[in-house]
Formats: sequence, structure tokens, C-alpha cells
Amino acid sequence: MRKIPDNIKFAVASAAYQIEGAWNAADKSPSIWDTFCQKPGAIMDGTNGEDTCKSYEYYKRDIEMIKFLGVSVYRFSISWPRLLPDGFANKISKEGTEYYNNLINGLIENGIEPVATMYHWDLPQKLQDLGGWANPDIAVWFEDYARVLYELFGDRVKTWITLNEPKQFAVFGYGMSRFAPALNMGGIAEYLVAKNLLLAHARAWHLYDKEFRSTQKGVCGITIATDYREGETDSPDDVIAGKEAMDFEVGLYSHPIFSTAGGFPESVIRLVGQKSAKQGYPRSRLPELSTKEIKFIKGTSDFYGFNHYSTKFFTRNTYKQGMFPVPSYDDDLDAVFSIKDYKPAAVIHSTAIPWGMRKALKWVKDNCNDPEIMIFENGFGDLGGTDDVDRISYLTRYIDAMLDAIEVDKCNITVYTVWSLMDNFEWCSGLSIKFGIFETDYEDEERKRRPKCSAFWFRHLVATRTLDPGYKALREDLTF
Ligand code: NOJ
Repeated sequence: MRKIPDNIKFAVASAAYQIEGAWNAADKSPSIWDTFCQKPGAIMDGTNGEDTCKSYEYYKRDIEMIKFLGVSVYRFSISWPRLLPDGFANKISKEGTEYYNNLINGLIENGIEPVATMYHWDLPQKLQDLGGWANPDIAVWFEDYARVLYELFGDRVKTWITLNEPKQFAVFGYGMSRFAPALNMGGIAEYLVAKNLLLAHARAWHLYDKEFRSTQKGVCGITIATDYREGETDSPDDVIAGKEAMDFEVGLYSHPIFSTAGGFPESVIRLVGQKSAKQGYPRSRLPELSTKEIKFIKGTSDFYGFNHYSTKFFTRNTYKQGMFPVPSYDDDLDAVFSIKDYKPAAVIHSTAIPWGMRKALKWVKDNCNDPEIMIFENGFGDLGGTDDVDRISYLTRYIDAMLDAIEVDKCNITVYTVWSLMDNFEWCSGLSIKFGIFETDYEDEERKRRPKCSAFWFRHLVATRTLDPGYKALREDLTF
């Protein structure tokens, strides 16, 4: 039995494209995911997010579910093309504004604090047609969008997340074709957009800091997927491979914002530079950040938004050129990885390695100037079922690891969030992979939701503020 410190707020999370549906309601324009889902073969099970959980219609039931859990925070995201159908701030959708006002007001009326993500991967297609995140002008477009958000909702939203998991959509969407917009320009596009993403994030933060913070009194920061990477063995070479993998995985975004020096991590600059030269590029495929840009980006996050699911192991011993496309983000690291212990999850990115989360938290403390850490995602993906004992076991072990990070490593953690409130559209895996602690019935027109065993378990944890590994949650048949 372990007590959860009083300062930890419990939360559940979701994202607009994954739950809202209503892809063409009112004046909403298509996002890059609406476009991507139409490509044959893009989504593994052939589903899409056009309707998904229908939260646009049934958000009140979502609020009831959050209330049932007893958590004090709900993290959701705002759909840029729902609010700004042209992508630009020339036209603000009345219906889009009304939807988010209703959601935010509903949460507050029920004593739940709203945490809003500005960008959780659903870029307006119109902006993608202009290059999307590869166009440097997007930093200003994003700042304009952020201004609209602060003006409309900042009187009630006190925690803003600018970008969710930038590395993931940059690598999978620009470097590969797993995610929208499927540019598949490995080794080039993911680095180009990294720079633009950092500048866009920094602009949104500076805007809040200069013009809104004093009146709205909230906080603004970034959320970075902070999975853990470690050497395959204890050999010095493997240890270095693990460290450099961490620089590529997390440091590319965290170092420019949170480190004292600022800028991209030394190892990423070196490795991409060396490979680029060998491959005949006249300059590094990793763009340069000017001294002015380094300064502008440094220190622009009021907290470290931390998402965590898994740990991978790296070595250079068995790496051979040609294992990965050349050039590519994976190839630039000059190492291969292995995955261990991900069963019984249905996806390789929920591993049963809780100590990896503890080490990732410590890595953030040590490499990012000991920031306030808000854990904004941690969760388990399976193929469904309401008696989800494996999910409970995963969450129990990961929360236990978080408590070690707090008590032993003295990490400054203030929020713990379960991904996700309910089963939803899991990007390229479609509706078949489920992360919810509520089950969503996609056969039902009204998308009835049922609490899984894990929802009862989490509710008990939140009410008792005690982690009891022996506690057996009993499921009742309830419908929302
Ligand atoms: C991270 C992403 O932010 C979220 O959208 C996704 O569903 C989860 N990981 C699970 O894969």
C-alpha cells in the first residue's frame, strides 16, 4: 500500500480527432487526418475518425464519466479546423466556439479543471496544402491560432499545452507514411519541421507570457513523448547508444526548450551532420538554429508535459547500413533497437517495463533543469474487453514507479493522467486498438460507453489516494 502525495492531481485524457467525430459538422473544414483516412490501406483496420465516439454530440456524457471517476482534471484537445475553418484567424467558427465553450463550462460546473491541448495532430488540410509544418510561416499562423484560443477560452483554461508529442507526428507523418500527412521524406522533413515546431511553440508561449499571463494567470507548456531508451547491455558502446537514442527520441525537442545551453543536442547535430556529409549533402539535413532562435526557444515551457508508454533497447553491434531507409531518422542514429516485454499489450508501445518510466522521469529531472513534470499520458493498449486486468496491472506498476521517482529520485511531479478516458480512434491502428478505461460501443448509434474494470479500479485509487496492489476492483454494468 502506498500513499499518493497530496499535491498529485489525477486526470484522464483524450484528443479531438480521436473522440469528437462530426468531421464535417457546421463549417468545420477537413483536417489532414480526414484526408489521410480516405487513402486505401492508410488505417490498418480500414476505419476512420469521421464519427468515432461522437463526443461532439455527446460531450455531456463524457463529463458524467469524468465525474464518476472523481478525477479533478480533464485533458482534451481543440480541433484547429473546427475553430478556424480556413486555418487562418480570419474566420472563427461560431459552432466550433460554442462546442468548446460548452465543454469547458460543463467541466468547470462539475468541478473539473480543463487542460487544453492546442495541437493534437489534426492540422487543417488547407494549411497542409501550403506545406503544413514544413512551411516556416506556420510559426506565425500557430501564434495567431494561439491568440484566438487565449482570447476565447483563456479566462477559464488555465493550463495550455501547445503541441502534443511533436517527434511522433514529425517522424511518422513527415519522415514516414504511417501518419498524416504521409510525406515519407525521411531524414529531411522530420528535421525541417522540428525547427518550425519549436519556433511555433515558442511563439505561442511568448505570446501568453507577454500578453495574457498577467490577466489570465495560467501556465503554458509543451508535451513530449518521453519513452525510455537504454543500451542493450552495460558495455560502454551500448550505454552511449542508449544515451544518444534518448537525445534523438526526446532531446531533439526537450534540449532546445529546457536545457541551459539551448539548441539541438550535441549528439544529434554530430550524427546527422556526419551522415549527411557521407551521403553527399552539401550541408547537414538537420537545420541550424541561429543564436537568436536558440535564445528565443530556450525557457519557453512552464512545465514539462510528459507522456510515457514504453522502453526500447539499443546497440550499435548489429547495425548495418541498409537496415533502415537512407537517409532516415532511424538510420541517423547508427544503431538498432529491440523491444522486450510488451505482451500482454496489443501494441509494442505499451511495454511492461515500469522502471523505464522511473528512469525517464529521472532523465527529465537531470537533463531539463528539474522542471515541474505533469504526466499527461500513460496507458495500455489492448484489443478490448471490460474485464481489463492487464490494464490494471500495467497502471498499478507504472504508478508504483512514479511514486519511486517522487520519493527516491525527488522528481517534481504534479499530475498523473491515464490515457484514455474511453476507447477511441487510435490513429493508423484505427478503432481496433483500445486504450480506454471506458468501453465505447461503436455498434450503437449513440456510442454508449461502459466503465471497464479499470475505471472502477481508478475511481477507487482516486478516492482513497492509495495504491493498493492487492485491491480487486469489481465491475458493475453501468452505461453512460
Ligand atoms: C500518444 C498520443 O498522444 C495519443 O494520441 C495516442 O492515442 C496514445 N499515444 C496511444 O498510442
